[in-house]
Amino acid sequence: MKILSIETSCDETAISIVEIIELSSKNYAIKFKILGNTILSQIELHKKYGGVFPALAKREHAKNLIPLLKKVLKKSNFLKIKYKIQNKKQQKEIENILNREYELSKQFLEFIAKIETPNIDAIAVTIGPGLEPALWVGINFAKALAFVWNKPIVSVNHMEGHIFSALLQKSGKDEFLISNFQFPIIALLISGGHTQLVLSKKFLKYEIIGETLDDAVGEAFDKVARMLGLPYPGGPEISRLANKKPRNRVPRFSTDIKLPRPMLKSNTCDFSFSGLKTAVLYTLKKITNITEETKQKIAKEFEDVVVEVLTTKTKKALIEYDAQTLIIGGGVSANERIKTTFENMVKNEFSEISLHIPSKELATDNAIMISIASYFRFQNNPNKYKKQNIEKIKADGNLKLM
Ligand code: KG4
Ligand code: ZN
Repeated sequence: MKILSIETSCDETAISIVEIIELSSKNYAIKFKILGNTILSQIELHKKYGGVFPALAKREHAKNLIPLLKKVLKKSNFLKIKYKIQNKKQQKEIENILNREYELSKQFLEFIAKIETPNIDAIAVTIGPGLEPALWVGINFAKALAFVWNKPIVSVNHMEGHIFSALLQKSGKDEFLISNFQFPIIALLISGGHTQLVLSKKFLKYEIIGETLDDAVGEAFDKVARMLGLPYPGGPEISRLANKKPRNRVPRFSTDIKLPRPMLKSNTCDFSFSGLKTAVLYTLKKITNITEETKQKIAKEFEDVVVEVLTTKTKKALIEYDAQTLIIGGGVSANERIKTTFENMVKNEFSEISLHIPSKELATDNAIMISIASYFRFQNNPNKYKKQNIEKIKADGNLKLM
């Protein structure tokens, strides 16, 4: 089976085509061949706003989808030119589907009329959670493609994508296998919009057992970075600063930085990061001379707090639910300190548990993870997707894992 997937939930426009080969029907032994994968980051454009600006994200997705589709079809050897003129009725319907995306509609009609239907079996698209204006562009694009090519659409929860991307194991050039995993699974999902502990006792079934009561951990990284004068996205910047060797061996001014560990002692698996962010703000206000060394100390202490809170809550969840598998997913899982701390924790304290953390490219948003999640959803109930009325597919900015 071959799936073309579209991801536009935030500030990354991504399209991929993945071929799925079942090696055995047991144990989820499946090979995923990446036929084409493109991703266009809007980070540079959003930098001046210090975060993602939804209207701008929507406009950029609309502008970039056709060029990316062209690139991914070419890469997969699916770009075949045809010489048939589109019929008027079809054109009207496409204009109707894309009536909110004028620029995309123009490019779409021009490009799609010239090419053959690619050899794919389904179109996957992220329907949430994320920024609704951004999600809608991807959804309408998927609907227009599904209409011209007569393919089913599989709607995907972005967070389920992050879960599956952690389970991918590289098995060759552009090839992945799903590694073996056992239930119950605990997934710690840490991204720009989410901080959740998810329990899965059965395939494709989820229960949120803890989440942030305010800011997401990625958001806290981004906001603290901004306070320290670092660019967006703040996660990699903070981490670089925190792990940099101090320049002066004997610093002239040395203040100890101590930040609070929010909710560490609470009896739940919930998180809170907004107080931590405010604590950084007050700390900075109190210091008259903010040197590079102070910034470095704050970054390090901030990372320490995040690591301590994440590991403490995850440990609690692992014990409470007698987990066999631990998955860490989402953009923040690209953080080296977080990664090595969890690796050591599992090795030393939970050696019977298998740990899965995505590689750096698969940790942050991408379309490959959307293909993988859509494959399992499709296999689970093909008729649901083959028979569905695509008009009913809607963006849901707050879509929950269930
Ligand atoms: O999953 P993702 O790409 O997008 C969302 O779904 O939100 O996550 C983006 C978040 C941003 O907040 C970014 O600062 C954070 O992931 N991030 C990191 C690192 N790389 C990305 N946070 C900490 N350390 C990193 N190395
Ligand atoms: Zn994400």
